[in-house]
Amino acid sequence: MCGIVGYIGPDEAAPILLDGLSKLEYRGYDSAGLAIYNDGRINIEKAVGKLANLSEKTGGGSQVKGSLGIGHTRWATHGKPNEVNAHPHSTENFSIVHNGIIENEAMLRRTYLNDVNFVSDTDTEVVVRLLEKFTSEGEAIDVAIMHLIDIIDGSYALAIIDRRNPEYMYAVKNKSPLLIGKGEGFNMIGSDAMAMIAHTDTFYEIHDQEFAIVTRNSVDIFTSYSKKVDREPYKAELDLSDISKGTYPHYMLKEIEEQPLVLRRIIGEYQNDAGELTVPEEILADVRACDKIYIIACGTSYHAGIIGKHFFENISGKPADSYIASEFVYNTPLLTERPLFIFISQSGETADSRAVLVKIKEMGHKAITLTNVKGSTLSREADHTMLLYAGPEIAVASTKAYTAQVAVLAILAVAVKNKIGIDLKYELALIANTIESLCSDRELYKRLAEEYIAPSRNCFYIGRGVDYYVCLEAALKLKEVSYVQTEGFAAGELKHGTISLIEEGTPVVAIITQYNTHLNTRGNIKEVTARGAKVIRISTKGASSRRDQIVIGDVHELLTPLVSVVPAQYLAYYTAFLRGCDIDKPRNLAKSVTVE
Ligand code: G6P
Repeated sequence: MCGIVGYIGPDEAAPILLDGLSKLEYRGYDSAGLAIYNDGRINIEKAVGKLANLSEKTGGGSQVKGSLGIGHTRWATHGKPNEVNAHPHSTENFSIVHNGIIENEAMLRRTYLNDVNFVSDTDTEVVVRLLEKFTSEGEAIDVAIMHLIDIIDGSYALAIIDRRNPEYMYAVKNKSPLLIGKGEGFNMIGSDAMAMIAHTDTFYEIHDQEFAIVTRNSVDIFTSYSKKVDREPYKAELDLSDISKGTYPHYMLKEIEEQPLVLRRIIGEYQNDAGELTVPEEILADVRACDKIYIIACGTSYHAGIIGKHFFENISGKPADSYIASEFVYNTPLLTERPLFIFISQSGETADSRAVLVKIKEMGHKAITLTNVKGSTLSREADHTMLLYAGPEIAVASTKAYTAQVAVLAILAVAVKNKIGIDLKYELALIANTIESLCSDRELYKRLAEEYIAPSRNCFYIGRGVDYYVCLEAALKLKEVSYVQTEGFAAGELKHGTISLIEEGTPVVAIITQYNTHLNTRGNIKEVTARGAKVIRISTKGASSRRDQIVIGDVHELLTPLVSVVPAQYLAYYTAFLRGCDIDKPRNLAKSVTVE
């Protein structure tokens, strides 16, 4: 995880870096730091905790002069989140910031740095010490960087400055995201485009095991064999308003309420000139040729994957299963003869998912990535990409990316084979309208969160079939932002164990949208009510009963996950709000998890 920004140009670097880092806090917020070159020296400023602490310490950057600098926001992996372990890490001449994990750091310490007294607990310090060593032994900086690329195992995005060469900034990449922002008379380095979009919309990709030498007026990218790469920059379709909160108090609320817009955008992006939803023929050919679809993802994306399985089996008649990436990679199930892999990843950078992609590519299998980020690692390394068009998702808890994933999975399933004759374009448009009307009931969700969930230590979501799948996502949403311990259960399974946890006043949220099981779920509600549970019922109109507190307009039964998740997202948001939690940046989490 961790966020990186670098700047070289005519302006004061520190305020630009702090602003860039503020767009990257989703990548980690344990500590932050800056290294700014000025007059023969590199000045380092660090602060533990959120970026605001560093900003306060440096007067918004105004107290650190200089127009070359690098900055970092950290999600601790090696060593506690304190000032010593905060980046940048420095030697006499170099300062570097790093995102990733140096897997062979112990070997590197033993082989090259036996006589060095390390000051931090980080793996990053090994890198800067190696750079100092190699250059002090006479290697030119580019040779030393290639030397690093040759000997380091693991993931790294590095930004480097050198006290003796202040007209240069260096960027190095392997498996962790890094882009170069191309300006007029200045250039930048950043973990993503959002960190630089206030200054430029033109970017260069750097690929794995490449490095770049950046000056105010030039960007030269090299492969590890010192060959200059001829790469054109690209324009990002991002705009600053996409990444600002506007009038919303939190990104999470903004992103929940952007869901109708996202669905309409997806319809627009996936329709052909005749107005029909389509998927490129080469993708469909690969899906049709397989005998089973293996969906691989983590967290919220895994939950979208389970719904995807439901779509492929019920809409296209294709066997499918969704797997947790970190499990699949080391405990790979027996594969069928002609497997096809679908990776779902909002960020396109998740290390656990990528580990599976690398493995199945070695085995010679085909892969499709569903991602929100064009050009991301998982997108580049798969055979095909389907974009989510959700726009930047800033809140750590995923909301609009989940609905976008579910919608794009539905589009793919229908395009592969529409066994049930569903008019998906009409249904998705109806769902966008239905979500819009759910968004007008904020007060109801807030009241229910206040009365039922916020005062409680724990909470349960129950449902059957797709409702159960949504319960898993709903429970994740609630626990990750409000810290109320929440689990999602198959309603019929409660009586086989979990019901022992129900006490007087325990909140239970039931999701009821499926005609074939709604009566069974209502039976389970009676069981928990009889044991003291306070139940919130979220149902669709056709499956509703008089006392249900949240009733959603009817949509196609297969697609109810797109609507039933929305009240659950609001309940999570308002519970976190009422409990005074840091909604957009829950403790210990990062949005983009680039370590296994
Ligand atoms: C992190 C985030 C989750 C996300 C998961 C997978 O854990 O906190 O919200 O669902 O990563 O991320 P991806 O970008 O692969 O969808």
